[in-house]
Formats: sequence, structure tokens, C-alpha cells
Amino acid sequence: MYDYLIVGSGLYGSIFAHEAHKLGKKVKVIEKREHVGGNVYCEQIEGINVHKYGAHIFHTSDKAIWEYVNSFVEFNRYTNSPMALSKGKIYNLPFNMNTFNQLWGTITPQEAKAKISQQSAELSGKEPTNLEEQAISLIGRDIYETLIKEYTEKQWGRKCKDLPAFIIRRLPVRFSYDNNYFNDTYQGIPVGGYNKLINALLEGIEIETSVDYFDEREAWDALAEKIIYTGPIDRFFDYKFGALDYRSLRFETEVIDSDNYQGNAVVNYIDKKYDFTRIIEHKFFEFGTQAKTVITREYPKEYAKGDEYYYPVNDDKNMKIYKQYYELSKLKENIIFGGRLAEYKYYDMHQVIKSALHTFKSQVGAGDE
Ligand code: FDA
Repeated sequence: MYDYLIVGSGLYGSIFAHEAHKLGKKVKVIEKREHVGGNVYCEQIEGINVHKYGAHIFHTSDKAIWEYVNSFVEFNRYTNSPMALSKGKIYNLPFNMNTFNQLWGTITPQEAKAKISQQSAELSGKEPTNLEEQAISLIGRDIYETLIKEYTEKQWGRKCKDLPAFIIRRLPVRFSYDNNYFNDTYQGIPVGGYNKLINALLEGIEIETSVDYFDEREAWDALAEKIIYTGPIDRFFDYKFGALDYRSLRFETEVIDSDNYQGNAVVNYIDKKYDFTRIIEHKFFEFGTQAKTVITREYPKEYAKGDEYYYPVNDDKNMKIYKQYYELSKLKENIIFGGRLAEYKYYDMHQVIKSALHTFKSQVGAGDE
């Protein structure tokens, strides 16, 4: 009999498994995919760690979480500084003094602020009724038309004029020459890739991959005192209250016979003439010096049954459905529902780690730590 059967080997399942194993608990991990790691899994191509389920950049301001992950694997000094290509010109993101200089030639923060307020005045006094008006009221027409409009329309498959204003409540704007995308204190990528982190967490733990819990649910349930379920919550309850929506993506990966394709890990392609929204060049996450390079084009995609679950859609309709599942989940005393899919929550990596550690501690009681 296992103390814990862990369904899913993403960060949540792997952290929980590690902590339980460390305390001498009997643990088994089962995983539907052919590999462990969930969405942080990297596939090696041409000696490059390719982020197979989307670019993953670790960032946190939580010192304890940063020290925790660094105790398993060293992190490099990668700082996310995406670029945007629009109408043949390249711009820095997030919007900062470099972007304003590239767009208008402004030099000082005062000049940039004056330009933005002059442009956003176009809508002054009027409550924005759609995304276009909202963006112009926040940042002015030039930035909206150069760096927001076509990208957003590709992402949503609809005109900005037909999208609700609330989608962009705030826009990150910085009046310094700082291209660092995140505001967090700590940031980086595991040296040698995320698989190193997952493998270190799961060391010494019994694992079976290519196993779907639902294929033999009763047999698995009978094997363990407690189940840690990290799969989709609607699936757990046989979609009783309906299927939850997800936003999906399509990735197209290509090996390029050159050592450098775009000079940066992340480039957003704003113009609608490109069907994709971003190109990720994976070697830059780890300062790779390989002879070839691997790029991934990211295409927006409507979610269809059978697709990977990427982003939960936490709108009113879906949250109502989720709440019904959540109420049912509370009645399952020997099952813990954790992680992005089981909690239907957009967790970043540091948040999912914190949540798994917290739940584990509350399971065993603070005295056992
Ligand atoms: P995750 O989905 O990783 O793991 C769940 C596992 O359960 C999967 O391996 C699945 O196969 C398995 N499973 C499901 N059903 C099962 C069943 N029936 N039987 C057996 N196994 C089953 N975060 C961040 O901090 N920085 C970033 O840059 C990014 N970037 C990013 C890009 C994209 C495209 C996405 C979708 C997400 C990010 N994230 C991110 C978020 C990050 O991916 C996320 O926080 C963690 O991977 C969540 O880990 P979980 O363990 O909760 O889920």
C-alpha cells in the first residue's frame, strides 16, 4: 500500500512526491505522457533544450522558493527581454524608454510622458467601450497601432474594436531604459534545462509513464491511502457539470542550419501578415553555442477536444462550472486536487511550487517538517 499515489508528474506532482519521499513515505507517480515534467519538460534537439510545451522562464520574488529550486539545480542569469518586430522595425518590450526612443526618438522620461499623455488625450473624458479605445486611453495611438493592434487581433481572432475593454486593464509601462520583462527579484533558467530539476525532485521515486489514471481508476485507488490528483478537474468528475474551456496554442518547431536565427530568445511578430505571434529561439535561454539552432513558431489556436490544456479561461461562465467541481472535490477526503489543471488556475511555476509545498506541509502537520 502506498501512502501517496501521485497522478501527474508536473511541478506540483513532482514537488509533492519529493517532499513525501523525503519523509520516508511510500510514494508512486503515474504520468499519462511518455515523459515526466508536465509542461516544463524539455526535449533535446541538436543539443539544445527545446521547451516543448511553451517557453518557460522561472521568476519569483520569493526568496525561500528561489533557494528551494536552487538546492536541486543551479539557475543561470537569463533575463527575459523580448523584442517585437513591427512593420520591418524592431522594438524593445516591455514598453520602456528604449521602445519610446525607437518609436519617437524621445530621450528623457519627461519627453516620453508628454508624448503619451498628448496621444491618450484623444479619448479624454470618454469611457473606453472596447479594447482599442482602452489601449489608446492608456498608451496613445502610436503604440497601440505599432505594437498592440495586430498582435492582439491575431491572438483573439477578432478585431480590437470588437473585443471588450477589460481585457487590458493595465499595460506595463516603464520610464527607465530597462528591458527586463519581469519585475521579480530572481529570474533564470536551470543550467542544463528543466528536466534536471524534475529528475532531481523525482530521484529514488517509483514512476510509471504512459499510464492514464482513468484507464484503471479503481485499481489505482485501491493501491494508496491518498491520491494527489493534478489532472483536469472536470475529467475527474466525468464532465458532470460540463467541460471547462482552455485557451490553446499550436507550436511548430524547426531546426535551422545556422547558429543564430533571430538573436534573441523571444521575438513577438506583431504584423498580421505572419500567422504566428511569436518565435522562440531556445538556445538563448541557456546561452547556447551549438552549431545549429532550433526555433518554435507559436500560433494562436481555438481549443478543441483532445488538445493540450494550456491556459484556463477564468471568466464568469467557466468559474461557475469550476466552483461546482470544487464543491464536489471537497467531499473527497482521500484525494488532494492540486496544480494548474485540478485547481483550474493560472499558476506560474513559483506559485505552483509554493502551493504544493504548502499543501504537503498541511498534510503532514508542521511538526513533521
Ligand atoms: P502540469 O500540466 O505541468 O502537469 C500535470 C501533469 O499531469 C501532466 O504531465 C499531465 O500529463 C498529467 N496528467 C493529467 N491527467 C492525467 C491522468 N489522467 N493520468 C496521469 N497523468 C495525468 N510559468 C512560469 O513561471 N514562467 C513561464 O515562462 C511559463 N510559461 C508558460 C507557457 C505556457 C505555454 C504554459 C501553458 C504555461 C507556462 N507557465 C509558465 C506555467 C507553468 O507551466 C505551470 O505553472 C506549471 O507547469 C504547472 O505545473 P502542474 O504540475 O500544475 O501542471
